[in-house]
Amino acid sequence: MRVAVVGAGLMGHAIALVWAMGGHSVRITDSSAETLARSKGLMETALSTLEEAGLSRGFTAAQLAQAVTRHERLADCVEGAELIVEAIIEKPEAKQALYAQLLDCAPPEATVASNTSYLDVFPLMPKALLRRAMIAHWYTPPYLVDLVDLVPSPECERGRVQAVEAALKTMGQVPITMEKFIPGYIANRIQATVQNEVQRLIDEGYATAEQVDLAVIHGIALRMPIVGVMAKADFTGLRLLQDTFRNGVYQAPPPRDHSTSMDKLIAEGATGVMSGRGYYDWGGRDPAALFEERDRKLIALKKALRAIGNMVEDRT
Ligand SMILES: NC(=O)c1ccc[n+]([C@@H]2O[C@H](COP(=O)([O-])OP(=O)(O)OC[C@H]3O[C@@H](n4cnc5c(N)ncnc54)[C@H](O)[C@@H]3O)[C@@H](O)[C@H]2O)c1
Repeated sequence: MRVAVVGAGLMGHAIALVWAMGGHSVRITDSSAETLARSKGLMETALSTLEEAGLSRGFTAAQLAQAVTRHERLADCVEGAELIVEAIIEKPEAKQALYAQLLDCAPPEATVASNTSYLDVFPLMPKALLRRAMIAHWYTPPYLVDLVDLVPSPECERGRVQAVEAALKTMGQVPITMEKFIPGYIANRIQATVQNEVQRLIDEGYATAEQVDLAVIHGIALRMPIVGVMAKADFTGLRLLQDTFRNGVYQAPPPRDHSTSMDKLIAEGATGVMSGRGYYDWGGRDPAALFEERDRKLIALKKALRAIGNMVEDRT
């Protein structure tokens, strides 16, 4: 398939790499010439990390150079495209302007797939684009996290979603096609609920940040890759869960518009790994080294989980 990726930032360059590794020819563009130029090195670095980890499926740097071309003009990038991946900034006015341009300059049969995280992009599209528009939302880094949320526009031709779904599966991704749009899809909504709950536990003095992480890592995280949430419900037994709902003891905290502990840290300049401190003190370590250590551990876990399997996909 001929794939055009519009937006070569954090997500765009990495999504382009996955499509290229899947055997597709990829054109990429960005409104910033500097970001476009930088994307080449970022793809090469990501590929060499995958090669070292034995996850590159034989795809080489020479093949990458062949498969991906960079184009400064949008029209050149989308020329001949069958699939256009929109991965530009999360600003409605920018996306709206781009969709109007695509209607003018992209092939009339090209499918347009937005990587938006939270925006309902369909009302931002010209009506004529809707029959070939969908959301294909990836997680970072896309070459390590398999999930892709697919949401067809209300008018999207079914075959287009099926074609993207099939191509993603062939590349080893795990696409989930949702019937209709909801901000955050499934995984980000679950994550937002968890974040809301733990900010309450910390802000109201029930737990420290470290206790929250120890409870997650040594409590729920071990089971989750094997049974998810719903298969776990089956293993727990639905009657117990029914009683828990009926007892009404658990009250979810209302959604927060801020967190006092987080506001305090940010005011002190402790914004997370990039500043050396957040909820944890990262001991003055170089952020790049911390990201590398995290990725190395994620790769080791991913390989182990592939070998182990899980109770959801392996159940027959
Ligand atoms: N960062 C994440 O973890 C993440 C995860 C999933 C989805 N997303 C979504 O992916 C999209 C991109 O996010 P990102 O994190 O890669 O942002 P980013 O800022 O790293 O990259 C966006 C790029 O778009 C470019 N751009 C802006 N307008 C453009 C235009 N009209 N034409 C071409 N290029 C243009 C910018 O120059 C920038 O390089 C957003 O919709 C975001 O919500 C992000």
